[in-house]
Parts: sequence; structure tokens; C-alpha cells
Amino acid sequence: MDSKNHTGKFLTIEGIEGVGKSTAIKFIQNYLVHAKQEIVMTREPGGTGIAEQIRKVLLTPNAEETMASETELLLMFASRAQHMAHLIKPALAAGKWVVSDRFVDASYAYQGAGRGLDLKKIATLDQWIEGGLVPDATILLDASPELGLARAKSRGQRDRIEQEKIEFFERVREGYLTRAKQDPNRFHVIDAAQPLVAVNEEIKKVLDKLGNIA
Ligand SMILES: Nc1ncnc2c1ncn2[C@@H]1O[C@H](COP(=O)(O)OP(=O)(O)O)[C@@H](O)[C@H]1O
Ligand SMILES: [Mg+2]
Repeated sequence: MDSKNHTGKFLTIEGIEGVGKSTAIKFIQNYLVHAKQEIVMTREPGGTGIAEQIRKVLLTPNAEETMASETELLLMFASRAQHMAHLIKPALAAGKWVVSDRFVDASYAYQGAGRGLDLKKIATLDQWIEGGLVPDATILLDASPELGLARAKSRGQRDRIEQEKIEFFERVREGYLTRAKQDPNRFHVIDAAQPLVAVNEEIKKVLDKLGNIA
């Protein structure tokens, strides 16, 4: 746990489309508010005005021009640099919980495992931008892309990344699971195919342990 540099708790929620991240975040928000914790909910890419502008560039489909994987990676980190400087660091320094819908693990999973970019280059950017600030805990909601896409189907138009093929999301899922194996103390892998009550029960355990708020 990276408690030396901040007093708040930094929790990130990861997983492919449709596994239940937004649903989990609503549950977490309710739970923490009840426990009288000060929290900031945020998301990546995005989280600040400029970072949300970068998000639009990243996610808007463009029929005229494909986005190079390198561009995608660098924009993700540009958005993250803004998010770190203007939201995450100040909130943690003020002793708040920061709960983010995706963070740097998503770059290893999507741009690394998904797009096939060199993980060492991603690690270099990670070191530069995060400077060793690691989430206190990361919840990985894990389910097959088939299940995720079926759940996400009711949403409107798919964004640029959501339009990828199922094989892409298989690689992303594996990328996430590999990250989780490399850092088992930080990661909490939850089977997202379970009924929502069971998922929430597991999330509750993570929150109680992390915040000592049971
Ligand atoms: N454990 C679950 N069981 C059944 N449906 C779920 C579960 N978790 C989420 N859902 C539903 O699946 C859909 C996608 O969930 P959402 O939280 O938007 O996923 P994400 O933010 O990861 O894309 C929503 O309609 C949500 O209500
Ligand atoms: Mg969501």
C-alpha cells in the first residue's frame, strides 16, 4: 500500500466493456458515503476538463483516418498526466478516497496486450507520469468478452475502441489477468459473471479491508 505519499485511498476498477464497472462504482459510492468517507469518483480516459477533451479524441470513431496505436497510447498518458496533476494527487493529499473507473492497468491491457505495443515502453511512461504512485487496491471485474458485449449491447452507439473485434477483447482480458498475477496483493479479481449480489459482496470485503470501515 502506498500510504507514505498520501493519506486518502486510491481504488481503481478495471475490466473490459460491459463487465459491470459503472455498476460497481455506484455501489462503492453508496457504500463509502454510508461509511462517512469523503470520496471523489472519476474515470479514464478523462476526469478533468482537458482530460475529457482528450477522451473525445480517443473515443470518437473517425471513418477518414485510423488512429495509430502509438497515438492512442500517448493520448491515454496525456489524459492521465492531466488527471494525476489536477484531480488524483490533490484529492489524495486532502485525505479523500479516489475511485477511478480504469487507470494505468488499462494501458497495459488495451494498448499493450490488445494493440501489441511494447510493455516496456508502457512501463517507462507509467514511471514517468505516475512516478511510483500505485493504486492502494485494484478491483478487476473479469468475464468473457461475449458476456461483456451482451451486457453492454443495450447502450447506444459503440465508441471507437468498443468497435474492436472479439479477439481484441480476449487479448485485453488476458492482459488484465496477467497484470493481476504479477501484483496479487494489489489486485482483487472478481468473477463478474456472478449475480450482482455476489459481486457486491466481494467488493464490500475489499472496501472493508482497505478502509478499515467495517
Ligand atoms: N453481475 C451482473 N449481473 C448481471 N448484469 C449485470 C451485472 N453487472 C452489471 N450488469 C449489467 O450489465 C450492464 C453493463 O454494466 P456496466 O456497469 O455499464 O459495465 P461497464 O461499466 O463495465 O461497461 C448494465 O446494464 C448492468 O446493469
Ligand atoms: Mg462503464
